[in-house]
Amino acid sequence: MKLRLDKYLADMGIGTRTEVKKAITKGQVRVNEETVKRPEIKIDTEKDHVFYQGQMVAYAEYEYYMLNKPAGVVSATEDKNDSTVLDLIDEKQRKDLFPVGRLDKDTEGLLLITNDGALSHDLLSPAKHVKKTYEAMIDGHVTDADAEAFRQGLDIGDDTLTRPAELEILSANEQSFIRVTITEGRFHQVKRMFQAVGKEVVYLKRISMGNLLLDETLKPGEYRELK
Ligand code: URA
Repeated sequence: MKLRLDKYLADMGIGTRTEVKKAITKGQVRVNEETVKRPEIKIDTEKDHVFYQGQMVAYAEYEYYMLNKPAGVVSATEDKNDSTVLDLIDEKQRKDLFPVGRLDKDTEGLLLITNDGALSHDLLSPAKHVKKTYEAMIDGHVTDADAEAFRQGLDIGDDTLTRPAELEILSANEQSFIRVTITEGRFHQVKRMFQAVGKEVVYLKRISMGNLLLDETLKPGEYRELK
């Protein structure tokens, strides 16, 4: 891929377009063996090596991170009051990263962070029915009748019933531990589905999305880069 030197450096988070132009004209940028002073020169990301203040700056067109989202942070790129999932990614280079879909502030688990819009669309498009699996602790005794209701589709107050969902009961008592797989992404969907059968989600964690599985070695707040 070919792009202007100033865009290359700005994309990689060296500074704003104005700041990197200044750095270039001041002689702080080298391309291969040569100090260059023209921000508009074209860089071939496959062949050229770019250095800022002597440090090589590799170009990443796309970045992908698997985050185990902790409770207490919001799935947004910025927020006035809370820290966001992007604040947790220390190594990020690109400025155009975003979370693929949203988890509630109190939900934990798998969240993909990327700047790949096409992948995000494939994972989130309602037409594609991508499977999302959650584990949850439920206040109340979850029953086979609940599992049947989830299979049939529930009225959660929207225009249409929920699509069939698979509810696996892992343990059932005053509190129950379950795994549920849904193929939609409605607002607070899992919580509202349990409300519809008279129960409350007290802990929720996403463990997979499509064929992406949460790496269970990641503690809440930890992430790893995906290639
Ligand atoms: N369903 C919910 O209720 N909350 C989430 O964060 C994800 C799915």
